[in-house]
Amino acid sequence: MEIVIKKDYDEVSELAAKYMLDVIRNKENAVLGLPTGGTPIRMYNIVVEEYKRKKILFNNIKTFNLDEYIGLSKLNKQSYYYFMNKHLFSYTDIKEENIHTPNGMTKDVLNECINYENKIKAVGSMDILFLGIGQNGHIGFNEPADFFEPYTHKVILKEKTVKSNSRFFEKIEDVPVTAITMGVKTILSAKKIVMLAIGETKADAISKMVNGKITPQLPASILQLHNDVTVIVDENASKYL
Ligand code: GLP
Repeated sequence: MEIVIKKDYDEVSELAAKYMLDVIRNKENAVLGLPTGGTPIRMYNIVVEEYKRKKILFNNIKTFNLDEYIGLSKLNKQSYYYFMNKHLFSYTDIKEENIHTPNGMTKDVLNECINYENKIKAVGSMDILFLGIGQNGHIGFNEPADFFEPYTHKVILKEKTVKSNSRFFEKIEDVPVTAITMGVKTILSAKKIVMLAIGETKADAISKMVNGKITPQLPASILQLHNDVTVIVDENASKYL
């Protein structure tokens, strides 16, 4: 794992955006794996600024988001689809059919998981996948567990995750407690992985991910098995490294 420690959020975001822009510039039909959460917002802002300067195009780019809440429609402001439109897609010429997020409104979750996994397989592999990390070491919505789930699957969110994500909702009761997420094998199938982490609340998870044992109790630790991972952290998140 390559670890890059940057001064602050802006510097982390600038480097992460550079990784995304390089892939988009060098491969017009690139496949991007994308995260949500507070951390990647500035990275998306920078990419949008570059798009507005007409330096890049999205018309042949395909995207796959890591996860989606079950029970939230695309029109729901808290859905990850809505988040992606708000922070990235709506500014660009990306084609709607090239945007992929798990369908949180499906009546058949198992089938949706299989379909989503197949859609990713059908494009070959993601050229680059960006990740955030939960305070408990989750990636996507792969929560600490007794075993790794390889493929796209349904998860029941941990109390800590619901609490932490409740800052985006009016009240904690509104936070869905289930979600669909790529599995760890899906994540590891990306050619390149870039993780972003900001702030002291992530420091413990980052240190365990980098220096701890590979364990499903800290899902991000599985990234030690991938041969092209760059972890970009600010000074606070690097505190225990
Ligand atoms: C959610 C997402 C994760 C993300 C995490 C951290 O749980 N499913 O993909 O990494 O939030 O979010 P933040 O960047 O807001 O700390």
